[in-house]
Amino acid sequence: MRKITVVGAGNVGATTAQRLAEGELAGTVVMIDVADGIPQGKALDQWESAPVLGFDSRVTGSTSYDAAEGSELFIVTAGIARKPGMSRDDLLRTNARIVASVSKEIARVAPDSIILMVSNPLDVMSYVAMKASGFPRERVLGMAGVLDTARYRSFIALELDCSVEDIQALVLGGHGDTMVPLVSYTTVSGIPLTQLLSRTRIDALIERTRKGGAEIVAHLKTGSAYYAPSAAAVQMAEAIVRDKKRILPCTAYLTGEYGQEDLFLGVPCKLGHGGLLEVLEVELTDAEGAELERSAGAVRDTIAKLDGV
Ligand code: NAI
Ligand code: 2OP
Repeated sequence: MRKITVVGAGNVGATTAQRLAEGELAGTVVMIDVADGIPQGKALDQWESAPVLGFDSRVTGSTSYDAAEGSELFIVTAGIARKPGMSRDDLLRTNARIVASVSKEIARVAPDSIILMVSNPLDVMSYVAMKASGFPRERVLGMAGVLDTARYRSFIALELDCSVEDIQALVLGGHGDTMVPLVSYTTVSGIPLTQLLSRTRIDALIERTRKGGAEIVAHLKTGSAYYAPSAAAVQMAEAIVRDKKRILPCTAYLTGEYGQEDLFLGVPCKLGHGGLLEVLEVELTDAEGAELERSAGAVRDTIAKLDGV
């Protein structure tokens, strides 16, 4: 890919840009931020690491969207991060205004690009981006499921004292307390997790996963997670850029899948050139289906709170 732009040069955005450049996922990686000096300074600092690390992606920073013209992919991390005691929904209205204006700028300078949303509340910001940009659903995706699944997998690996590489899992639903880790699709090298752990221990790991973002906020006190979130966003970007056709849990606009329409929700998706290639509908147990329905309801309630923003 020729150019990828990261909007928001804060913790998630800057770490994402560095990972994109180190992986040489684009010839040019641009960072855009409203805080003059921050994207320019961080971009220069990252570019100066290129000779040591051996990458040739040019990293640049700007406050102007002119620098992003022609980008094929935008990763949007602009907004305000969660502070201790603040729910994701508290961020709603401020971030909706920011994301709507950012999405309009993206549509202006790169009308054929793909938007990968990261800003919270994620499911609703993805919805705002699609409406504000006017892009089709193939070109607006949200990142949450890869992160939530990574947290779930990392906790299972710790519990079993085994490699994270051997844990396969899927977390669907909204990015919040109602997310749906699917025990029926959680295996350790093909062995169902239920054969290796008691239901009580599995429930404890699911609870920790649901509160995974808040656990980091409680430690950091002045911000939220960014190492795992940036890694997750870059995994989705790589699937698109390299047309890998990876099947990953992504936040996608549903048009009837899983009985849901006109909202973004975390579901298994195939990603490749052009963005979303397919939403996969998998069988769920009755309990998992009910949890997904409840999660969709929570996303709908938050969309309703947008109230014309
Ligand atoms: P941060 O506060 O470090 O960075 C946000 C950046 O956005 C700041 O540099 C700020 O100047 C910039 N910004 C604000 N308004 C802007 C605008 N109109 N245009 C361009 N830039 C603008 O926050 P952090 O930690 O990087 O988090 C970013 C967002 O990502 C937050 O909304 C956070 O909740 C969300 N997040 C989502 C995750 C997910 O799983 N989807 C995981 C982690 C964070
Ligand atoms: C997280 O899950 C804050 O949504 C962010 O870490």
